[in-house]
Amino acid sequence: MYEWIKAFHVIAIIAWMAGMLYLPRLFVYHCAAQNGSIQSETFKVMERRLLRAIINPAMVATWLLGLWLAWLGPDSRYGWFASGWLQAKIVLVFVMSAVHGMLARWVKDFAADRNRHSQRFYRIINEIPTILMIAIVLLVVLKPF
Ligand code: HEM
Repeated sequence: MYEWIKAFHVIAIIAWMAGMLYLPRLFVYHCAAQNGSIQSETFKVMERRLLRAIINPAMVATWLLGLWLAWLGPDSRYGWFASGWLQAKIVLVFVMSAVHGMLARWVKDFAADRNRHSQRFYRIINEIPTILMIAIVLLVVLKPF
């Protein structure tokens, strides 16, 4: 049972991360498209579908399956919740979820032709989920504390 939940947790993470890494890249290209152009309208559809069909449900699934695993954990009383690596991981996943919330907001801004940021800004933002993901995977696999 535990291994099955873990497998689906990892599948959900892959979908979430694929979207979290791709969406800011779409914003970089979208910045270069003129408002009202066919390209800009196409980017709007791509961004909205990526957010609604992939990233949002994948984040919910990652959280629910992760919390389920944590609750099952090695200790019948506290699960994994007493472990330092999980506590640190949950903090980083909160940060990842906050970045997700900001991306959702920028999708809305682009949809209304009200983007306020530069290509460079989105290129920098693009690195944040990557760094968080590396730190989270190292924490969960190595369990250093
Ligand atoms: C708050 C949300 C999350 C919770 C509570 C959570 C919790 C857990 C738990 C308890 C395990 C099982 C660890 C084990 O059996 O050794 C696990 C596995 C895993 N988690 Fe999460 N997780 C969450 C989100 C994430 C995210 C966002 C990522 C990646 C970006 C991630 C990456 C992984 C990986 C790669 C594994 C498999 C590790 C292995 O097989 O050794 N998790 N998670």
